[in-house]
Amino acid sequence: MNIENQIIIGKYDTNIFPFAEIFAEHCSETLNCSEHYKLHEYIADNLKPNKILRVGEDQATYAHSVLYKIDPRYQKDPEIKSKVKDRAFIKTYERFIGFLEASVFFEKLVYQKLPTLRIHLPNNLSVGEYHRDRDYNHPIEEINIWVPVTKAKGSATIQMESSYDAGDFHPIEVEYGEYLIFDSGLKHGNEVNIEGYTRISFDFRVIPISNYKVSDLSSINQKMKFAVGDYYSY
Ligand SMILES: [Fe+2]
Repeated sequence: MNIENQIIIGKYDTNIFPFAEIFAEHCSETLNCSEHYKLHEYIADNLKPNKILRVGEDQATYAHSVLYKIDPRYQKDPEIKSKVKDRAFIKTYERFIGFLEASVFFEKLVYQKLPTLRIHLPNNLSVGEYHRDRDYNHPIEEINIWVPVTKAKGSATIQMESSYDAGDFHPIEVEYGEYLIFDSGLKHGNEVNIEGYTRISFDFRVIPISNYKVSDLSSINQKMKFAVGDYYSY
């Protein structure tokens, strides 16, 4: 599959991969918030960021600490891990990787072991700056995949440039049940969300096995080596 300079929107069956239901159930049982696009209404003001998030802060809010309890596999502390309900999010994600291998890439994938969760609260950012993942040590062989579990429109979705270094950032609008695949050489980021709802998404990186090389570099946030068994699974 050649995705050079491309942004592709794909579709999947939400009955087979019920990501939104898993997030809704988690938000309902942890915050009493059954409609997860209203997450911002269920977080106390003093637990919300009081300024626009920057790089280094955009994975570390109270809302992230709640959302990452969606699956015990995100938890490193065995005590917390044992208390976190398994809603099969990661198991569903792993099945989704199988779907991408069989229906999209027609090849085995090396894939990010645990996808990154994004929360785009009203009047804030979900990602601190426009970037290419390679700016943070990611291998250039990676292909980015972005999956919203709410609607993703206007200022509440990912903004992409249309070709390398074009800098013409524009929103890529995606419905629940759709996903984006994009060339990791394209810069992307987001704008302050003025849509009045919380956008939640997850994203991850894959490398077709034929293109995978072991990297000595590590991720900046979690200090994981970009290798199978550490940052990646296979
Ligand atoms: Fe990125």
